[in-house]
Amino acid sequence: MKYIIGNWKMKLAPTDEASLSRKVKKVPFDQGHVTVSLHPTFLSLQAVARALQGSSVYLGAQDCFYEDAGAYTGEISPAHLKNLGCEYVIVGHSERRRFAGETDEIINKKVHAVINEHMIPIVCVGETQEQRQADNKDHIVRRQVEHALHDVNVVGAQKLILAYEPVWAIGTSNAATPREAMYMHQVIYHTLLDLFPKSIVAENAFIIYGGSVDPDNIRDFLNEPAVDGVLVGGASTKFDEFSKMIAIANSL
Ligand code: PGA
Repeated sequence: MKYIIGNWKMKLAPTDEASLSRKVKKVPFDQGHVTVSLHPTFLSLQAVARALQGSSVYLGAQDCFYEDAGAYTGEISPAHLKNLGCEYVIVGHSERRRFAGETDEIINKKVHAVINEHMIPIVCVGETQEQRQADNKDHIVRRQVEHALHDVNVVGAQKLILAYEPVWAIGTSNAATPREAMYMHQVIYHTLLDLFPKSIVAENAFIIYGGSVDPDNIRDFLNEPAVDGVLVGGASTKFDEFSKMIAIANSL
């Protein structure tokens, strides 16, 4: 299974998100082979949920709070996301770590909250340019994975997606090479093996790559058997590019 996750960030107006989802819905692909999810802003979740009704494209959120209800002004409940039809939630994106001050502890609480609602967390990890230059990348990514998944139990069919997103590759047109991505996928894989039984890692956990993925380089990533998919930002907001990427994934 190859995951194609479209993270629209705050790049589109709500009306554009609704119309883009109506177009993506019509792109043909084999559901047994490719999983597509769209992550619009919270403002558009309801409209996109309606647009995607009856299609095989999944709805996802870009974030959530770690409590289901209460006096939390401005926050978004994971339970309400589930009720709206969300199946996937991105957690710990580097832009949340950077602009919203999310710590490893907060990210861990969010992962628990998403799993409690039987949704699938897409946990983002990745080093900055400075951390890479200081040769700290393995340690940083390993620690992010360990913190994010602290005390997490994976039972039944619950899935877990880890997205390796080097911060220096996001929105820069400077994607990691498949070799660099593969290296860090191995680091993440071995960290997962320290945290979960081998059978869980083999069947329930998926490791994807994100950072300047586009129609020209997606094939190189998806051709790597250890890469279970891609998290796409900028290119997922452009119908021509995103539909091409789905078609490429479907053809492999
Ligand atoms: P990008 O973003 O594809 O625009 O680099 C990826 C992401 O942040 O998930």
